[in-house]
Amino acid sequence: MKLIEVANYEEMSQKAADIIISQVKKKPDSVLGLATGSTMLGTYQQLVQDHQQNGTSYRNVRTVNLDEYIGLSLDHPNSYRYYMNQHLFFHIDIPLSQTYIPNGASDDVEAECKRYEQLIENLGGIDLQILGIGRNGHIGFNEPGTSFSAPTHVVELAPSTRQANARFFPSLEDVPRQAITMGIATIMKSRHIVLLASGTAKAPIMVKLFEGTVTADVPASVLHTHPNVTVIADEEALSLV
Ligand code: GLP
Repeated sequence: MKLIEVANYEEMSQKAADIIISQVKKKPDSVLGLATGSTMLGTYQQLVQDHQQNGTSYRNVRTVNLDEYIGLSLDHPNSYRYYMNQHLFFHIDIPLSQTYIPNGASDDVEAECKRYEQLIENLGGIDLQILGIGRNGHIGFNEPGTSFSAPTHVVELAPSTRQANARFFPSLEDVPRQAITMGIATIMKSRHIVLLASGTAKAPIMVKLFEGTVTADVPASVLHTHPNVTVIADEEALSLV
Protein backbone atom coordinates (compact mmCIF):
# COMPACT_ATOMS: atom_id res chain seq x y z
CA MET A 1 0.00 0.00 0.00
CA LYS A 2 1.57 3.25 -1.16
CA LEU A 3 0.73 6.37 0.88
CA ILE A 4 0.74 9.85 -0.63
CA GLU A 5 0.47 12.45 2.14
CA VAL A 6 -1.00 15.77 1.09
CA ALA A 7 -1.69 19.03 2.90
CA ASN A 8 -5.42 19.33 2.36
CA TYR A 9 -8.57 18.42 0.44
CA GLU A 10 -7.61 20.49 -2.64
CA GLU A 11 -4.26 18.77 -2.97
CA MET A 12 -5.87 15.34 -2.47
CA SER A 13 -8.40 16.10 -5.20
CA GLN A 14 -5.71 17.31 -7.60
CA LYS A 15 -3.54 14.23 -7.06
CA ALA A 16 -6.52 11.89 -7.55
CA ALA A 17 -7.59 13.73 -10.71
CA ASP A 18 -4.01 13.53 -12.06
CA ILE A 19 -4.03 9.74 -11.62
CA ILE A 20 -7.41 9.40 -13.37
CA ILE A 21 -6.37 11.70 -16.24
CA SER A 22 -3.12 9.83 -16.85
CA GLN A 23 -5.01 6.51 -16.80
CA VAL A 24 -7.44 7.81 -19.44
CA LYS A 25 -4.60 9.18 -21.58
CA LYS A 26 -2.68 5.91 -21.35
CA LYS A 27 -5.76 3.81 -22.16
CA PRO A 28 -8.61 5.84 -23.72
CA ASP A 29 -11.10 2.99 -23.32
CA SER A 30 -10.30 2.46 -19.63
CA VAL A 31 -12.88 1.05 -17.25
CA LEU A 32 -12.98 3.46 -14.32
CA GLY A 33 -14.56 2.42 -11.03
CA LEU A 34 -16.10 5.50 -9.44
CA ALA A 35 -17.31 6.45 -5.98
CA THR A 36 -19.64 9.06 -4.51
CA GLY A 37 -19.67 11.02 -1.25
CA SER A 38 -18.21 14.39 -0.28
CA THR A 39 -14.67 13.09 -0.64
CA MET A 40 -15.01 12.75 -4.42
CA LEU A 41 -16.53 16.13 -5.23
CA GLY A 42 -13.21 17.98 -5.55
CA THR A 43 -11.74 15.27 -7.75
CA TYR A 44 -14.70 15.41 -10.13
CA GLN A 45 -14.46 19.21 -10.20
CA GLN A 46 -10.81 18.89 -11.23
CA LEU A 47 -11.71 16.41 -13.98
CA VAL A 48 -14.40 18.75 -15.33
CA GLN A 49 -12.02 21.71 -15.26
CA ASP A 50 -9.29 19.73 -17.01
CA HIS A 51 -11.77 18.51 -19.63
CA GLN A 52 -12.87 22.08 -20.33
CA GLN A 53 -9.38 23.56 -20.35
CA ASN A 54 -7.26 20.77 -21.80
CA GLY A 55 -9.81 18.70 -23.67
CA THR A 56 -9.09 15.35 -22.02
CA SER A 57 -11.65 13.08 -23.67
CA TYR A 58 -13.80 10.39 -22.05
CA ARG A 59 -15.54 9.40 -25.27
CA ASN A 60 -14.35 5.80 -25.05
CA VAL A 61 -14.16 5.45 -21.28
CA ARG A 62 -16.58 3.14 -19.46
CA THR A 63 -17.44 3.81 -15.83
CA VAL A 64 -18.86 1.52 -13.15
CA ASN A 65 -19.97 2.97 -9.85
CA LEU A 66 -19.49 1.19 -6.57
CA ASP A 67 -22.95 1.39 -5.15
CA GLU A 68 -26.49 2.74 -5.14
CA TYR A 69 -29.29 3.10 -2.61
CA ILE A 70 -32.24 0.74 -2.96
CA GLY A 71 -35.64 2.32 -3.41
CA LEU A 72 -34.73 5.75 -4.81
CA SER A 73 -35.76 6.51 -8.38
CA LEU A 74 -32.86 7.19 -10.78
CA ASP A 75 -33.70 10.89 -10.91
CA HIS A 76 -34.06 11.24 -7.13
CA PRO A 77 -31.67 14.00 -6.02
CA ASN A 78 -30.12 11.64 -3.44
CA SER A 79 -29.55 8.75 -5.83
CA TYR A 80 -25.94 8.14 -6.78
CA ARG A 81 -27.00 8.21 -10.46
CA TYR A 82 -28.17 11.79 -9.95
CA TYR A 83 -24.96 12.67 -8.09
CA MET A 84 -22.76 11.27 -10.87
CA ASN A 85 -24.72 12.98 -13.63
CA GLN A 86 -24.68 16.34 -11.86
CA HIS A 87 -21.09 16.32 -10.67
CA LEU A 88 -19.32 14.59 -13.53
CA PHE A 89 -21.08 12.94 -16.46
CA PHE A 90 -23.07 15.96 -17.69
CA HIS A 91 -19.88 18.04 -17.81
CA ILE A 92 -17.55 15.74 -19.74
CA ASP A 93 -17.89 14.04 -23.13
CA ILE A 94 -18.69 10.51 -21.91
CA PRO A 95 -21.83 9.01 -23.51
CA LEU A 96 -24.25 8.24 -20.65
CA SER A 97 -24.75 4.78 -22.17
CA GLN A 98 -21.15 3.99 -21.12
CA THR A 99 -21.77 4.92 -17.49
CA TYR A 100 -23.02 2.12 -15.26
CA ILE A 101 -24.45 2.28 -11.75
CA PRO A 102 -26.36 -0.50 -10.00
CA ASN A 103 -30.09 0.01 -10.48
CA GLY A 104 -31.46 0.41 -6.97
CA ALA A 105 -34.95 0.94 -8.41
CA SER A 106 -35.02 -2.57 -9.92
CA ASP A 107 -37.98 -4.85 -9.07
CA ASP A 108 -35.57 -7.70 -8.55
CA VAL A 109 -32.50 -6.40 -6.75
CA GLU A 110 -30.92 -9.85 -6.40
CA ALA A 111 -31.02 -10.31 -10.18
CA GLU A 112 -29.67 -6.77 -10.57
CA CYS A 113 -26.64 -7.68 -8.42
CA LYS A 114 -25.87 -10.69 -10.64
CA ARG A 115 -26.33 -8.60 -13.79
CA TYR A 116 -23.99 -5.89 -12.48
CA GLU A 117 -21.27 -8.34 -11.50
CA GLN A 118 -21.45 -9.94 -14.95
CA LEU A 119 -21.42 -6.54 -16.63
CA ILE A 120 -18.13 -5.62 -14.94
CA GLU A 121 -16.64 -8.91 -16.09
CA ASN A 122 -17.91 -8.35 -19.65
CA LEU A 123 -16.26 -4.92 -19.67
CA GLY A 124 -12.96 -6.67 -18.97
CA GLY A 125 -12.71 -5.70 -15.30
CA ILE A 126 -11.82 -2.40 -13.67
CA ASP A 127 -8.55 -0.68 -14.61
CA LEU A 128 -8.68 1.95 -11.88
CA GLN A 129 -11.05 1.94 -8.92
CA ILE A 130 -11.42 5.09 -6.80
CA LEU A 131 -12.60 4.57 -3.21
CA GLY A 132 -13.62 6.73 -0.31
CA ILE A 133 -13.75 5.28 3.19
CA GLY A 134 -16.65 5.25 5.63
CA ARG A 135 -16.02 6.26 9.23
CA ASN A 136 -16.45 2.60 10.17
CA GLY A 137 -14.02 1.49 7.47
CA HIS A 138 -16.59 0.59 4.84
CA ILE A 139 -15.62 0.66 1.18
CA GLY A 140 -18.48 1.00 -1.27
CA PHE A 141 -21.23 -0.01 1.12
CA ASN A 142 -19.40 -3.07 2.42
CA GLU A 143 -20.05 -2.63 6.10
CA PRO A 144 -17.92 -4.20 8.89
CA GLY A 145 -18.36 -7.97 8.93
CA THR A 146 -18.83 -8.33 5.18
CA SER A 147 -17.12 -11.39 3.76
CA PHE A 148 -14.06 -10.60 1.66
CA SER A 149 -15.30 -13.07 -0.94
CA ALA A 150 -18.67 -11.37 -1.57
CA PRO A 151 -19.48 -10.26 -5.13
CA THR A 152 -22.01 -7.46 -5.83
CA HIS A 153 -24.79 -7.84 -3.25
CA VAL A 154 -27.61 -6.23 -1.28
CA VAL A 155 -26.59 -4.71 2.07
CA GLU A 156 -28.40 -3.45 5.15
CA LEU A 157 -26.81 -0.12 5.96
CA ALA A 158 -25.26 0.24 9.42
CA PRO A 159 -27.05 2.77 11.66
CA SER A 160 -23.81 4.82 11.80
CA THR A 161 -23.64 4.94 7.99
CA ARG A 162 -27.26 6.08 7.74
CA GLN A 163 -26.49 8.74 10.33
CA ALA A 164 -23.33 9.89 8.52
CA ASN A 165 -25.25 10.18 5.24
CA ALA A 166 -28.37 11.76 6.78
CA ARG A 167 -26.88 15.20 6.11
CA PHE A 168 -27.84 14.77 2.45
CA PHE A 169 -31.49 13.87 3.24
CA PRO A 170 -34.36 15.86 4.78
CA SER A 171 -34.22 13.58 7.84
CA LEU A 172 -32.67 10.34 9.09
CA GLU A 173 -35.94 8.54 8.35
CA ASP A 174 -35.53 9.37 4.65
CA VAL A 175 -32.15 7.63 4.37
CA PRO A 176 -32.66 4.25 2.65
CA ARG A 177 -32.01 1.16 4.78
CA GLN A 178 -30.55 -0.92 1.99
CA ALA A 179 -28.17 -0.52 -0.92
CA ILE A 180 -26.57 -2.51 -3.72
CA THR A 181 -22.80 -2.50 -3.56
CA MET A 182 -19.95 -4.05 -5.46
CA GLY A 183 -18.58 -6.68 -3.11
CA ILE A 184 -15.09 -6.69 -1.69
CA ALA A 185 -14.21 -9.47 -4.15
CA THR A 186 -15.42 -7.25 -7.02
CA ILE A 187 -13.35 -4.30 -5.81
CA MET A 188 -10.26 -6.45 -5.22
CA LYS A 189 -10.22 -7.60 -8.86
CA SER A 190 -9.48 -4.00 -9.93
CA ARG A 191 -6.02 -3.61 -11.40
CA HIS A 192 -5.24 -0.39 -9.49
CA ILE A 193 -7.10 0.98 -6.46
CA VAL A 194 -6.85 4.55 -5.14
CA LEU A 195 -8.39 5.31 -1.74
CA LEU A 196 -8.97 8.93 -0.75
CA ALA A 197 -9.38 10.26 2.79
CA SER A 198 -9.72 13.82 4.01
CA GLY A 199 -10.64 15.53 7.26
CA THR A 200 -10.60 14.78 10.97
CA ALA A 201 -13.76 12.62 10.79
CA LYS A 202 -11.63 9.98 9.03
CA ALA A 203 -8.66 10.20 11.43
CA PRO A 204 -9.72 7.34 13.79
CA ILE A 205 -10.41 4.91 10.96
CA MET A 206 -7.10 5.78 9.29
CA VAL A 207 -5.35 4.70 12.51
CA LYS A 208 -7.10 1.32 12.29
CA LEU A 209 -6.30 1.00 8.59
CA PHE A 210 -2.60 1.70 9.10
CA GLU A 211 -2.34 -0.70 12.05
CA GLY A 212 -2.05 -3.22 9.26
CA THR A 213 -4.29 -5.96 10.70
CA VAL A 214 -6.44 -7.45 7.96
CA THR A 215 -9.89 -7.96 9.45
CA ALA A 216 -13.51 -7.98 8.29
CA ASP A 217 -14.19 -5.53 11.16
CA VAL A 218 -12.41 -2.91 9.04
CA PRO A 219 -13.41 -3.71 5.45
CA ALA A 220 -10.80 -1.32 3.96
CA SER A 221 -8.04 -3.33 5.67
CA VAL A 222 -8.42 -5.95 2.90
CA LEU A 223 -6.54 -3.49 0.68
CA HIS A 224 -3.30 -4.52 2.43
CA THR A 225 -3.57 -7.77 0.48
CA HIS A 226 -3.86 -6.07 -2.95
CA PRO A 227 -0.63 -5.53 -4.92
CA ASN A 228 -1.45 -2.09 -6.35
CA VAL A 229 -3.12 0.29 -3.90
CA THR A 230 -2.45 4.01 -3.50
CA VAL A 231 -3.85 5.90 -0.51
CA ILE A 232 -4.04 9.68 -0.84
CA ALA A 233 -4.75 11.23 2.55
CA ASP A 234 -4.51 14.73 3.94
CA GLU A 235 -2.93 15.98 7.16
CA GLU A 236 -6.23 15.99 9.05
CA ALA A 237 -7.06 12.41 8.08
CA LEU A 238 -3.56 11.36 9.14
CA SER A 239 -3.49 13.48 12.30
CA LEU A 240 -3.80 10.47 14.65
CA VAL A 241 -1.58 8.05 12.69
C1 GLP B 1 -20.70 6.50 1.53
C2 GLP B 1 -20.43 5.76 0.19
C3 GLP B 1 -18.99 5.40 0.07
C4 GLP B 1 -18.18 6.61 0.48
C5 GLP B 1 -18.30 6.81 1.96
C6 GLP B 1 -17.64 8.07 2.48
O1 GLP B 1 -21.62 5.90 2.36
N1 GLP B 1 -21.22 4.62 -0.07
O2 GLP B 1 -18.70 4.97 -1.24
O3 GLP B 1 -16.83 6.40 0.18
O4 GLP B 1 -19.63 6.68 2.40
O5 GLP B 1 -18.40 9.21 2.21
P1 GLP B 1 -17.84 10.68 2.33
O6 GLP B 1 -16.87 10.86 1.23
O7 GLP B 1 -19.03 11.58 2.17
O8 GLP B 1 -17.19 10.78 3.67
